[in-house]
Order: sequence, then structure tokens, then C-alpha cells
Amino acid sequence: DKPWTVPALEQAKRDGRRLVMLTCYDAGFARTMDAAGIDLVLVGDSLGMVVQGHDSTIPVTTADVAYHTACVARGLDKALLIADLPFGADATPERALDASIRLLQAGAAMVKLEGAAHKLEVIRFLVDREIPVCAHLGLTPQSVLRLGGYKVQGRDEVAAARLREDALAVQDAGATLLVLECVPTPVAAAITSDLRIPTIGIGAGPQCDGQVLVLHDLLGVNSGHRRPRFVKDFLAEGGSIAGAFAAYAQAVRDGSFPDAEHSYA
Ligand code: KIV
Ligand code: NA
Repeated sequence: DKPWTVPALEQAKRDGRRLVMLTCYDAGFARTMDAAGIDLVLVGDSLGMVVQGHDSTIPVTTADVAYHTACVARGLDKALLIADLPFGADATPERALDASIRLLQAGAAMVKLEGAAHKLEVIRFLVDREIPVCAHLGLTPQSVLRLGGYKVQGRDEVAAARLREDALAVQDAGATLLVLECVPTPVAAAITSDLRIPTIGIGAGPQCDGQVLVLHDLLGVNSGHRRPRFVKDFLAEGGSIAGAFAAYAQAVRDGSFPDAEHSYA
């Protein structure tokens, strides 16, 4: 298998080839994921919760993400590496550009940022400067203070329509990938068929173009937080860490994960 490139992602969608993504924070796990055929590796700002032990992703800094991105990059040969812009780092286009340059210089091939609205200008600003962007809609954990908790988004008709508009808008702004988090299955399915760029679901049903899970959740590691409905412990099934990654990849590719039990109707 050749190393992944950014243009190959849209081609994968056209070919009906599902994308398998996992979060990762260090070189050893990165090497194991790469060998197991994980397509996309995300240094998520979830590191604030699962690695640093915070209650939210708000305390994470660009320096934190850059450090873990450099660690993960050393373990990868084939997977495409995506790094999160942490809270505040994408507040203005100029700040986002500085932070993105640090993350790309640490080894990321793409940055991810949450939301639409004023973030559309940020996406456009980065893409115009040759920085590939993954958008992230639905439940955006950096909005936890405004939302007052982690809840499924796009439940009623108005919110669902708004989400579909935002998805088209991030694509128009130049995003090459879209993570949909905690979105009802039919809404994520509609967005997936609306868009040319691949959608990557987490708690967004089986009809997205790919799936992502947090490493600790997939391995059943207790991070001190309530385990959401969409999480499945693949270690039990896979028998080893490499086996868990392979079982997850296979289940995403053959469409058996997520099932209804791990989705929101
Ligand atoms: O930070 C993270 O791990 C993420 C994924 C859950 C998509 O953003
Ligand atoms: Na994140």
C-alpha cells in the first residue's frame, strides 16, 4: 500500500472505499496502527482528557498538540496524519495560520478545526495558504461551556437543516474532510450524500464515508469519563492491541461497525 495523500481521500469516497481513523498520541501506538492498516491518524485535542486527565479539551495548547504530533509522526509510514487546532488557536485566521504551521512542521498533513460560522473564513484562509483542513461539526467538544455538556446535536428539523447547510459551507470553504460527531444517523447520511468530500463519523451512524474512535475508548481504557453510546471495546474482540486495531478496521470497512446499538436514531 502507498502512503495516503490528501487528494486520495476524495478518490476513496468516489470508489466507495470506507476510511478508518483512530486518535493517537505517541509513536508506539502510531507504529502499531500503521501496521494494522489504519488509514487516518488523528492527534485529537481529546488528549486533554485521555492523556492529561482534564475534564474537557479547553486546557489543551498548540504546544501540547505539536509535541504529540511530532511523537506520532515518527511512528507512521502510510497513514495520513491530522492534528487538531486546540481551543482558541483558530479564533482568528492569523492565529490559526501560526498554529497550523507549527502542526505541519511537527509532521501533520492536515489540521482539524471545529465549527462553521466565523470558522469558514479561517478554513478559507488556511486552504488558500496550502494547508489542508478537516472540518468538525455536530457535537463540537470545544463548545462545552456554551452547550453545558456533551449532547447529541441536530435532533430537531431546524437543527438538522442548519447542520446540512454548515456541512455544505465547510466544503465550499475548502475543507477536504468532515468529522461528524454525535449526529442522528439519518442526518449524517443526508450530509454524506450531499457532499463530495468524505464524512468521518463518531456517533453518527453507519452511513458516513469513514469512522473515527478515540484510542482509549477502543481499548476500553478507563479515562475517568462516562463511556458514550457509540463506543465499542474492540480489545475484547481482537485479543491484542494490534488485533483490536485490525478488528476495528475490518468492521468499519465491511459496514458492521457502527450498528444501531452504537448509533443515535
Ligand atoms: O479530539 C478528538 O479525539 C476528536 C475526535 C473524537 C474526532 O476530535
Ligand atoms: Na478534537
